[in-house]
Amino acid sequence: MENKNKIFSIVLVLAMVIGTVALSGCTQETKNKIIVGTSADFPPFEYKATNQTIIGFDIDLIKKILTDQGYTVEVQDIGFDSLIPSLQTGKIDVIAAAMTIDDERMLQVDFSNPYYDSNQTVLVKVGAGVNITTIEDLKNYTVGAQTGTTGWDWVNDTLVATGKLNSDNFRSYDLYTDAVADLIIGPSRVGAVVIDSPVAQAFAKSGDVRIVLNITTNESYGFAVEKGNTELLTKINTGLSAVKATTYWEDLIEQYFAT
Ligand code: ARG
Repeated sequence: MENKNKIFSIVLVLAMVIGTVALSGCTQETKNKIIVGTSADFPPFEYKATNQTIIGFDIDLIKKILTDQGYTVEVQDIGFDSLIPSLQTGKIDVIAAAMTIDDERMLQVDFSNPYYDSNQTVLVKVGAGVNITTIEDLKNYTVGAQTGTTGWDWVNDTLVATGKLNSDNFRSYDLYTDAVADLIIGPSRVGAVVIDSPVAQAFAKSGDVRIVLNITTNESYGFAVEKGNTELLTKINTGLSAVKATTYWEDLIEQYFAT
């Protein structure tokens, strides 16, 4: 009887040891994989190549930073407005989405050091007879922006809330690519799109749309992690400075922003 008990105890302890080793093996593996969330409608920062893979300045940069530090990276395409909730619920580990560092978001997430500056612009269709030379002129058109963005906030705060634009003439889009597609259909859909300046320039390369107004908002993009995840944030900041000190940085700018 006593012997049986002893054997049982040994087997139990062994099972626990094996279990613990197996489990820690698992956490180790998941910890080395970082899930990056983006909204792939924002060239040249994040967009879909013709084969549907997600590419762009932000994607290459965050992949470089994280793989250099031994992580494997998976990129997930999520609606821009769902990125912060996804980070907060642990569905993703990092946001790389040309996300502007602002006070409201800083209450919800922690941002890396800034990696790119931007302003807002007004984009219209070439040859559509849209006549916009001042902010006031926007009242004559339907104005579009992506939900949850600083461009959307600008239209809401500066035009709609002040009565300069009728709220019926404010169109919200889940994707900026859809907003620009509507713009190209014509002013019956949307006459003007408010969007970040480097992205407006990328869309304007097609020749279908052009920038008619610049709106100075002095924004800077940062990568975001869950509030309190200082370990990952430190790694991203260290990696960012390291990458900026190499030719990889200039090559990346050249690759995505050369005119
Ligand atoms: N910079 C703007 C913001 O933070 C727009 C970002 C939109 N990004 C995107 N991937 N669609 O609100």
